Amino acid sequence: MLNKVHPPRPDWYEEFYASVMNKTMKSYEAEGKAEKVLEIGIGTGPNLNYYANVTDIQVFGMDPNKKMEKYAQAAAVAAGLPLTKFKFVQAVGEAIPLGDASVDAVVGTLVLCSVKDVDMTLQEVKRVLKPGGIYLFVEHVAAKDGTSLKFWQSVLDPLQQIVADGCHLTRETGKNISEAGFSGVDLSMAFLSNASLISPHVYGMACK
Ligand SMILES: C[S@@+](CC[C@H](N)C(=O)[O-])C[C@H]1O[C@@H](n2cnc3c(N)ncnc32)[C@H](O)[C@@H]1O
Repeated sequence: MLNKVHPPRPDWYEEFYASVMNKTMKSYEAEGKAEKVLEIGIGTGPNLNYYANVTDIQVFGMDPNKKMEKYAQAAAVAAGLPLTKFKFVQAVGEAIPLGDASVDAVVGTLVLCSVKDVDMTLQEVKRVLKPGGIYLFVEHVAAKDGTSLKFWQSVLDPLQQIVADGCHLTRETGKNISEAGFSGVDLSMAFLSNASLISPHVYGMACK
């Protein structure tokens, strides 16, 4: 099958192509490397695993809850991300204490359910992103109108806000992201079978 799909090339040709790839791909990969990443509402840091293998990365983990800091720092160290590359910042998404166009990427998972003002947070995300920077998101959103899930989400929303520190079950966050003025938004929807009330989810990427 190997020879059928990929007929043998001369040895010198394969060696030449491999060495060109080895040289050129390094600079190509470096172009896409995110050096400064901000995670909004980082919580205990479950996403830190995904940053640890990026060289020259600086991660700002932002959360208003200072008690998250020790867990996020421990998660960073456990993931192999030294604390010199990880800084916990106590702040809210509505007022990010970073300069305009100062980060390459912003990450937010399950956080726009909890912020006070979704649109203000998205404007702040755009402000701190460099031109061409990306915003990666996973958010749980309201179920479709008329479904029993939407009914229970509406009934339990006030209780959820109390027990889960301001988390809303009925936000249509996908709409907010699509209408926030990013130059491009790639948004998908997913239903996680074990997520019950906090379902469905929107996930994707927006570009400044
Ligand atoms: C459901 S937790 C998600 C934590 C983490 N992102 C994760 O995926 O596990 C929501 C987080 O948002 C934080 N949060 C609440 N209000 C916020 C705000 N206004 N701005 C930024 N983060 C906020 C909470 O402290 C909490 O850590």
